[in-house]
Amino acid sequence: MALKLIIDTDPGIDDAMAIFYAIAAPEIDLLGLTTVFGNVTTAKATRNALYLLEQAGIEIPVAEGLHRPRVLPAFPPSSAVHGAEGFGTLTVPAPRRHALAETAPEYLVRMAREHRGELVLCPIGPLTNIAAAMELDPSFCSNLKGMVVMGGSLRAGGNITPAAEANFYHDPHAADYVLRHGCHITLVGLDVTNRVICPRSFFADLASESPKMGGLLHVMADFYIDFYETVGKFSGCGMHDPSALVACLAPELFTTEPHVLRVTCAGDRSGEMITKTSANAQPVNVCTDVQAEAVKQNFFKIVAKLS
Ligand code: BDR
Ligand code: CA
Repeated sequence: MALKLIIDTDPGIDDAMAIFYAIAAPEIDLLGLTTVFGNVTTAKATRNALYLLEQAGIEIPVAEGLHRPRVLPAFPPSSAVHGAEGFGTLTVPAPRRHALAETAPEYLVRMAREHRGELVLCPIGPLTNIAAAMELDPSFCSNLKGMVVMGGSLRAGGNITPAAEANFYHDPHAADYVLRHGCHITLVGLDVTNRVICPRSFFADLASESPKMGGLLHVMADFYIDFYETVGKFSGCGMHDPSALVACLAPELFTTEPHVLRVTCAGDRSGEMITKTSANAQPVNVCTDVQAEAVKQNFFKIVAKLS
């Protein structure tokens, strides 16, 4: 039976890659998308999520999420990384469909109840909606099958500040709340996603296999790779969000360590993930190593099936 999945997302170029992977994978039953700020504002994230679904020709629900972090004031979106509209140089027309009347936390709570024990949640943006869903329904976590989160960094340092990974940095209080309260979490952070690097030729090859959808990713990836090259870190782009999706289907490609985790919520190390020793707290499975070539091949093989 296919894996029932909801993605909480701030699309975002690597979010688009992750969403197309989930749409293309026959082993995933993508039930819906929920949106959050981060790479763009929440309103643009909703528009972009609807646009991606429209391009793929599928009509699953999109629930719009919260518009600002739990405690901190709103951050400006990461337009240097993802472009002003979220998809590099691509212009994004107004979609035909609309988001649900329900908010993202309400939708998540309802879906977790309706699919008790079967639903996997894959957050690939700041964890604001997830913390709100946990507060809304104390049984939210126990209703889920599990959660695979893209965020944080155990030993790889940060990508938005020297200490912090971007998703945790954009709402450290939400990240700390979610990690503190547990939820059968697998954490796919920079320790592994910084090692899954795809060059321009990867997306050119994808576009020849899949002219429409792979072609869109090819255009977006050009902007994303330009950014990575400016920063001088990699030759290619980090496959952050797609790696989390691959981890949902192929966990055997990742090595994990159990850790009790917290997130620093103030000061110049805000958003940093830290380990604690506590016998009572629920540990998180942190991905510490990855078979990077196999993850890339898995992603390519599945997304290449799209039109
Ligand atoms: C994360 O931050 C965002 O820019 C990406 O979409 C990804 O979710 C990587 O740190
Ligand atoms: Ca993201």
